[in-house]
Amino acid sequence: MSFIFITGVSTGIGYNALKSLVNKGYHVIGSVRKDSDVSRLKNEFGEQCTILRFDVTDVDSCKKEIYSITPLIEKEGLACLINNAGIAVPGPLQHLTDEEFTYQMEVNVNAVRRITNLLLPYLGTDKKYKPGKIINISSVSGLFNSPYNGAYCISKHAVESMTDVYRRELSMFGITVAAIEPGPIKTEIWSKSKGTLDRFKNTAYGEILSSADKMIESSEKSAFDVSVISNIILEIIAKPNSKTRYLVHRKPLLFRLLSHYLPDKMVDKMIAKTLTKKENYRPV
Ligand SMILES: NC(=O)c1ccc[n+]([C@@H]2O[C@H](COP(=O)([O-])OP(=O)(O)OC[C@H]3O[C@@H](n4cnc5c(N)ncnc54)[C@H](OP(=O)(O)O)[C@@H]3O)[C@@H](O)[C@H]2O)c1
Repeated sequence: MSFIFITGVSTGIGYNALKSLVNKGYHVIGSVRKDSDVSRLKNEFGEQCTILRFDVTDVDSCKKEIYSITPLIEKEGLACLINNAGIAVPGPLQHLTDEEFTYQMEVNVNAVRRITNLLLPYLGTDKKYKPGKIINISSVSGLFNSPYNGAYCISKHAVESMTDVYRRELSMFGITVAAIEPGPIKTEIWSKSKGTLDRFKNTAYGEILSSADKMIESSEKSAFDVSVISNIILEIIAKPNSKTRYLVHRKPLLFRLLSHYLPDKMVDKMIAKTLTKKENYRPV
């Protein structure tokens, strides 16, 4: 039996990955925050999964729940850790409170490092275990900075850095680390963002952000099905020589041109023009 640990399996990418991996015969250890999600997932997947309940920002409960699975994984270790749980806290950087900005970093960055470190011995820093894999669910926002989505972009850029640093530090153990960098994917994260920008209507950004919900809806419509990400996860786990990065975008070459090669000032102008037309605003 191979064990895979995934954070945030209640909905979206995490839930679909859980389902796909269980179908392939893996035992998935997944985390959720609500009791109702624990019972729902246990009913659906039975013995093939172990569901832990903790908030990734709650250090004590995170440690307690992870220590509780020691008897399950101490013989074989973990084949893979998928750092998936994440949130988007949209809004102009000027107006996000310290608490909001810190919470974005706590969930998307600090918790990823903490959970990774707790599980590293089972992924192979303890040499009695076979080297495993780490997959970080990053974002195109880890490669490109969109206005009004700054905290999220900063957090995903940090995930990109963390992916490279861990990969270079862990290569001596044979542990591989990859980032999946999705553009829009059809998940609950979009509905969670809707309406959250209304509170900036009395700021200088109010006019630009007045159509944010419509723009979120249009991005959501063009989003990929979540199974695209599960297929990449299955590929990374199965392939001995998987890539370090997987960009998931409808126009990958155009995206790379924009994020890597065009001069900053040209991209700034393009973004300003797009925002005036109130098109293409994307919170994730
Ligand atoms: N959907 C996209 O377009 C897209 C694009 C690029 C990257 N991503 C990334 O993909 C990952 C998954 O997002 P998704 O699209 O699948 O969204 P989602 O459906 O909203 O799922 C997010 C998951 O993270 C969990 N979570 C959030 N805050 C948590 C916390 N404090 N403690 C523990 N769990 C927490 C949620 O649990 P609850 O149900 O309890 O809230 C849920 O299980 C995220 O890292 C996101 O940034 C998504």
